[in-house]
This record gives sequence, C-alpha cells and structure tokens, in this order.
Amino acid sequence: MRTQSAPWRAAAVLASVLLVGGVAACGNSDTGGGGTKDDGKITMGFSQVGAESGWRTANTTSIKEAATAAGIELKFDDAQQKQENQIKAIRNYIQQKVDVIAFSPVVESGWDTVLKEAKDADIPVILTDRSVDSADKSLYKTFLGSDFVKEGKLAGEWLVEQKKTASGPVNIVELQGNTGAAPANDRKKGFGEAIAANPNLKIIASQPGDFTRAGGKQVMEQFLKANKKIDVLFAHNDDMGLGALEAITAAGKVPGKDITIITVDAVKDGMQALADGKFNFIAECSPLLGPQLMDLAKKVHAGEEVPTRIETEETTFTTEQAKEALPNRKY
Ligand code: AHR
Repeated sequence: MRTQSAPWRAAAVLASVLLVGGVAACGNSDTGGGGTKDDGKITMGFSQVGAESGWRTANTTSIKEAATAAGIELKFDDAQQKQENQIKAIRNYIQQKVDVIAFSPVVESGWDTVLKEAKDADIPVILTDRSVDSADKSLYKTFLGSDFVKEGKLAGEWLVEQKKTASGPVNIVELQGNTGAAPANDRKKGFGEAIAANPNLKIIASQPGDFTRAGGKQVMEQFLKANKKIDVLFAHNDDMGLGALEAITAAGKVPGKDITIITVDAVKDGMQALADGKFNFIAECSPLLGPQLMDLAKKVHAGEEVPTRIETEETTFTTEQAKEALPNRKY
C-alpha cells in the first residue's frame, strides 16, 4: 500500500537515519520516528471500460492474472461503459492512496480534472488500451496500447487491394464503436484514409454499434432495411461483426460472399468466423496487456523513467491464416 513515492521514501529513510544518529548521539534510545509503515506491496487501482466484448473479457483476465503473477494488489472496477463511473473509481483510488492508477478510458475527452487530482496526490497514472486527448501529457506517465489508426488503415488497404478491378461503386457500411472512444475515432479515420485511394469505394452508412454483438445486430438490420445494395461491412470489432452475421443471414444473404466482412480484434469467435469464410479479413488488436502493464507499474512506482508511448505488436489475418492460427489462439 502506498505511503510515499520512491524519491520521497528515499529522502525519508535518509532523514530518519540522520535523526536516529542525532538522537543516539544525545544519549536518547527512542528510535520510534513516527512515520507510516510501508509494507512494500504495490497497490494498483484499475478502472476497466466494461465487459462489452470478447476482447474486453480477455483484457480483464490478462490484467487480473498478471497482477497476481507480479505480486501486485489489484483493486478492479468495471465502469459499465460509463465515463462518470470511471471518474468515480479513480477518485476512490486517490482517496485510498493506491500506489498506481491504471485505466482504459471509455471516451477520449473529459479527463483533465480527475487526472490533475491524481497528479496533485502524487499518484502516477498509466493509460492502457485507449488514450485520452489531454493536451497536458504530464497528467499520465505512459500509454500502453494499440495503434488504432493503423488497424483501420490495414483493413482499408486490404479492401482497396481486393476491389482494385471494381468498375462501379462498392457500397460500404460501417459499424462504429461507442461514440467518442479512441478506437472508434481512430479506426474510422485510418479506414477512411486508406479507401480514399479508390473513388469507387464509398461508405454509404456509418453508425455506432457500441462494440457489442447486440448493437452490431440491431444496426446491421437497419442498414439492410435502408440500403438495397451493400457490398462490404467494416465493423470496428469482431463482436459487432458477429452480431451483424445474424442480421445478414436473417435477411437471406450469405455473409462473406454476398457481403465482404472486415473486422478488428481477432478474438477466437471472430477467428472462427474468418476460418469458416463468414468474415473475410481481420486486423488484430491484442488484449494481452497485463504483463506489460504490471512491469510498467513497478517501474513508475520505483521512480524509473518509462517511454511515454508503448505500442502493442499486431498483425492481420485472412481466412487461410486464421485456420492456421486458431488452434493456438489464446483468447
Ligand atoms: O479498446 C479496444 C476495443 O474495445 C476493442 O477493439 C473492442 O472489442 C473493445 O470493446
């Protein structure tokens, strides 16, 4: 549990040595000192976005397992996709004087006040999975996670290659993540930039499906009702793509054939759909951030410098690659 940050602890130890030495020299044997006891165990307060997707479940498991393995005491809160719950959890962690706060921000904006409160309390903050748009980068130590723009770009580039001989319009519908979330903003941006290379590729409808299967299904039903010709679906995650599969099948269309489906994440269920030919391409987003997060927590707690940005290593999958990777897929 946190009592003081590393440099302060070092100063306190030195001060108490000097004090004890001074007192002993005066012939007083009282070495009580009066400081608070530090049991040496790091406590991390973690605020998770929610449990909206297979990715999120795998991410939560990774964090919990890694904390146990690293001997870090984890205080965990599920914010149920609500920013106000995350702010409340962070304020609780500040009150509890945890050693490190880590969180995956549900949306990008609106964090400056609470991050300033953590900074004033001398509690380091690590952003994991998603970042914030704060101009003051001193409000957090580092951001560990994916490059979401790159994921969108990889998805778009694959489509450009597939449709390079298309002579007429290719109608694309897009299922976005929750409004204001970094992966929703960035994947949209990366995908849009990549498909601009071919003017035949047009996004004819784009709506949030909140990263959930139910959201993906419901919005895809609306897309199918409102648009006669849909050639491609770009879903910002596997779960929305999996929900959309149900809507597509119910509408009498064959997913992966009548409608090309591109998603992001590469969780097992998504990879199975890709291996089965129901999805056509996935840009990977790794949820296994726990071990790196715990390592960073130890470093920032010890007062060590850490890189301000740590990018997760990721790849992409076609149907053939999914078939090969599935037997060893961890999440
Ligand atoms: O922030 C990562 C995204 O959040 C994942 O791609 C999505 O599945 C999750 O809900």
